[in-house]
Amino acid sequence: MKPLVVCYSYTGKTKKLCGRLAGKLKADFVEIREIVRPSMISAYTRGGYLAMNRGTTDIRPLKTDVGAYPVQIVASPVWAGNVPPAMNDYLREYDLIGKTVYGVLTCSARAGNAAERLREEIEKAGAKCPNVVVLREKDGDFKAVESGQKQFFLEDGLLVLRDGDRV
Ligand SMILES: Cc1cc2nc3c(=O)[nH]c(=O)nc-3n(C[C@H](O)[C@H](O)[C@H](O)COP(=O)(O)O)c2cc1C
Repeated sequence: MKPLVVCYSYTGKTKKLCGRLAGKLKADFVEIREIVRPSMISAYTRGGYLAMNRGTTDIRPLKTDVGAYPVQIVASPVWAGNVPPAMNDYLREYDLIGKTVYGVLTCSARAGNAAERLREEIEKAGAKCPNVVVLREKDGDFKAVESGQKQFFLEDGLLVLRDGDRV
């Protein structure tokens, strides 16, 4: 059974990296979108506030039957050191009981509490979270993935980002 990559991306960076991730793992892909996409100002103010307070924002119904995927990879940016409200909404609205859900977070420099919070949300949803991978733009992680220097693998029950064969 193919894994499913469930991606929230506000400025497109996580989505681009998810293209690589889904390609490498031969996974299906679905995107989370808010019913009302926030402006940049609203993302930093209300969105950051909601993220810090484990809040949610309403998302559009997903076009994929996510219940059919026992293995999922949820990917999103870091907002204010936390998980964006749209991703929290996904993890609370959809039935993830008994699934295995890996996390991927992208950030410019500092992930803050986001990895721990993402794991907590996944586990609260009744899923197993073997690990959360954090990609930092300032450390060159985005370029390494985009160039194929680093690739994603599902190995020994973990999602791993490491040097791979050049593509
Ligand atoms: C509202 C908001 C809050 C952010 N907070 C952080 C942060 O706390 N730490 C960080 O390193 N980057 C932060 N960033 C940068 C994004 O996490 C980073 O650029 C991410 O890769 C963007 O992914 P996206 O293009 O998929 O939205 C923030 C960006 C936005 C829009």
